[in-house]
Amino acid sequence: MIDPDRLPTIAAPRVLLRWLTEDDVDALFSIFSNPEVMRYWSTLPMTDRREARELLEHVHESFRRQTLWQWGVARRDDDLVIGTCTLFHFEADNRRAEIGYALGREHWGQGYMGEALEALLGFAFGELDLHRLEADVDPRNSSSIRTLERLGFQREGYLRERWLVGGEAQDALFFGLLRREWTGRSRPEILPPSAAEER
Ligand SMILES: CC(C)(COP(=O)(O)OP(=O)(O)OC[C@H]1O[C@@H](n2cnc3c(N)ncnc32)[C@H](O)[C@@H]1OP(=O)(O)O)[C@@H](O)C(=O)NCCC(=O)NCCS
Repeated sequence: MIDPDRLPTIAAPRVLLRWLTEDDVDALFSIFSNPEVMRYWSTLPMTDRREARELLEHVHESFRRQTLWQWGVARRDDDLVIGTCTLFHFEADNRRAEIGYALGREHWGQGYMGEALEALLGFAFGELDLHRLEADVDPRNSSSIRTLERLGFQREGYLRERWLVGGEAQDALFFGLLRREWTGRSRPEILPPSAAEER
């Protein structure tokens, strides 16, 4: 079902979740060097384009090792990568994984990430047959919390000073969504590899 060489392309109305390539390094740098985007991230903002290239290598290597799947969120009209979303911490026996996401600062407030995550959740609960998805959010990250709650995630726990980033201790709010709570939502279109190649 899953192409062993690359992630499947998942379609949402205005964006595609697609495999990241060398051509996306500048877009990745633009997203992950912005201090507002990185305010509640688990690492500091990138300061050098080389870090974006290293991120791309990490994304490809982690896919090869099947430890983390990170898609580019590309606008369908111009194929620009405006964000990324991720499935990681896979636990096959318990059919669960964690999600992560980031959107370039200039693209906030237009519903792109909600759309992308709706498609990702449909893929995770549908194609991958997961039972549970989790998310770990800084309690001060109100836009991320709104994003999760709009998707139906529930607050499940509060972990104190779970992260130490740039000398700052950050708390974590844990969210969860069960597959049965997702039932009834539509399944996203998975583009065949040939169509995805032609993008
Ligand atoms: C978390 C993050 C992706 C949310 O971005 P966002 O722009 O608020 O999310 P969406 O793209 O889903 O857009 C939703 C917003 O667009 C608005 N919107 C405008 N047009 C819309 C449309 N056509 N459809 C849906 N929503 C629309 C919604 O009202 C909503 O705004 P609100 O939250 O003020 O009500 C973004 O803040 C981010 O990248 N943060 C930094 C990285 C990060 O912290 N990631 C999470 C780590 S846990």
